[in-house]
Amino acid sequence: MPESQKYDVLIIGSGGAGLSLALKLADNAKRIAVLSKFALTAGSTYYAQGGISAVFDADDSIESHIEDTLDAGAGLCNPDIVRLTVTHGKSSIEWLRQQGVAFTEEISPTGEKILHLNREGGHSHRRIVHTADATGKAVSLSLIERAQEHSGIDLYEHHNVVDLITAPAESRTGKKIVGVYVLDSLQQKVKTMTAKVVVLATGGASKVYLYSTNPQCATGDGIALAWRAGCRISNMEFMQFHPTCLYHPQAQSFLISEAVRGEGGKLILPDGSPFMQAFDARAELAPRDIVARAIDHEIKKRGIDCVYLDISHKSEAFILKHFPTIHRKCLKFGIDITKQPIPVVPSAHYTCGGILTDSYARTDIANLYAIGEVASTGLHGANRMASNSLLECLVFAERASIDILQNISTIPQPPSVPEWDDSQVSDSDEEVVVSHNWDELRHFMWDYVGIVRTDKRLHRALSRVELLKSEIAEYYSYFRVTSDLLELRNLVIVAELIIRCAQQRKESRGLHYTLDYPEPDNSQAPKSTILQP
Ligand code: FAD
Ligand code: SIN
Repeated sequence: MPESQKYDVLIIGSGGAGLSLALKLADNAKRIAVLSKFALTAGSTYYAQGGISAVFDADDSIESHIEDTLDAGAGLCNPDIVRLTVTHGKSSIEWLRQQGVAFTEEISPTGEKILHLNREGGHSHRRIVHTADATGKAVSLSLIERAQEHSGIDLYEHHNVVDLITAPAESRTGKKIVGVYVLDSLQQKVKTMTAKVVVLATGGASKVYLYSTNPQCATGDGIALAWRAGCRISNMEFMQFHPTCLYHPQAQSFLISEAVRGEGGKLILPDGSPFMQAFDARAELAPRDIVARAIDHEIKKRGIDCVYLDISHKSEAFILKHFPTIHRKCLKFGIDITKQPIPVVPSAHYTCGGILTDSYARTDIANLYAIGEVASTGLHGANRMASNSLLECLVFAERASIDILQNISTIPQPPSVPEWDDSQVSDSDEEVVVSHNWDELRHFMWDYVGIVRTDKRLHRALSRVELLKSEIAEYYSYFRVTSDLLELRNLVIVAELIIRCAQQRKESRGLHYTLDYPEPDNSQAPKSTILQP
């Protein structure tokens, strides 16, 4: 194996979580690699709009942010993790500013420059730090620039991790991580990379649904990699549907930020009448699960294609200042948001569950960490509150960095591992199997495991997943791997984990809503769902 493929720390994912960790480690650890399966900007981080939650307003408090997060999480948040995360809000924002991120500012009544704070659903105060309506782009580009400048970080684009490589652990029962097999998609070659520490920062899995706000790469790879390697996975039934995705045949899943509702945007029916007040006293600013279900209910009851989000009562200058990206994008499709309402529908947006981790981002496998959307830290419980996700990426990058730096000198060099062997497989002459199965999976997940579930629909979906799983396994054993095949192989596992978690939860709670058990079961303390490989 070439020397260059051996690292101290291998970080899989170049989003907010992965790059923050790389930068926090780079001055201390010796050799760090960051891998992205597409371009460095491929993850959800780049597309984040609303911002990052943190307590800055004089009227706000840490206790209030904690209370709102616990409330949205519907009894399933880990209160210690919520407190840990929320108390690091301010320092995380300061750290990003040191990396060069320019957040939107305003002049205070006393004439000082202060951060402008947005309001979003579930938050009882203004506490969303943002860069207009393109916060993720500002964060992503600054972190990429810093990482590119750092001589201790090697960045690999178009490197798609196929599987984790483990070995028996010396100091405790179980396994330790020693490296990964990775498809270099440009060279069409599977390489072996070894490291003392591997970190999964691969983002979420919302692409398992037909309609999603997420970019292409959100196929839950890290969750499937960890599951195959032997990690426990938790709370996968809590897939979050964002209430307002632009409804237009050519607009590939473009998000209309919750900040639009935060700034007074009203949800209306095609005849112009508002409807949210009938579902929740907080109306447009109720937590996402409530708003998404209300829209789904109205669409199905009335047989309409979409509802509308109207911000046109605000001045043009205000809209252009706060929502320039959304304004530009909608205009491309002939919708002038300064004058007319925006057609919207709910779409799969965020994976609340994932790889079970502790407060230092450690998984069940020694020296394997998981950070960002791929992890289930206990912060979000049954429903993530808006803008708590980027905060979690930053805080758990910091937590992982503390643990890694404390332990890395005691971790022995990884042993040599067998090279990838593809001597028994050939190039596929039936790519249609992959594209067909991709479509089929995402269709039935949308229809049977979406916003409203039933036992019957879940059972139906699981039967189809089992069929697809065996077909994909057979295909995988005959043909050389491609990026599409790897994603499909991971997606089908993610689908199975979502369905199995959903089947275990015999109640409705947070994002999991089933017609067979429409109420939360309050006869016992709520529990997270945990699947053991
Ligand atoms: P990502 O940013 O998704 O990065 C994942 C990385 O992993 C990518 O580099 C990808 O290439 C890599 N990867 C994946 N699989 C593999 C593999 N097999 N091999 C190699 N590399 C791999 N949250 C907020 O808090 N505030 C917001 O305003 C907000 N707005 C959002 C708007 C949109 C449209 C979307 C989609 C999400 C939004 N979210 C928001 C959620 C938030 O953006 C994400 O949860 C967060 O950015 C995830 O960051 P991450 O670093 O965990 O993963
Ligand atoms: C948005 O801007 O509505 C997305 C915020 C989030 O997902 O946290």
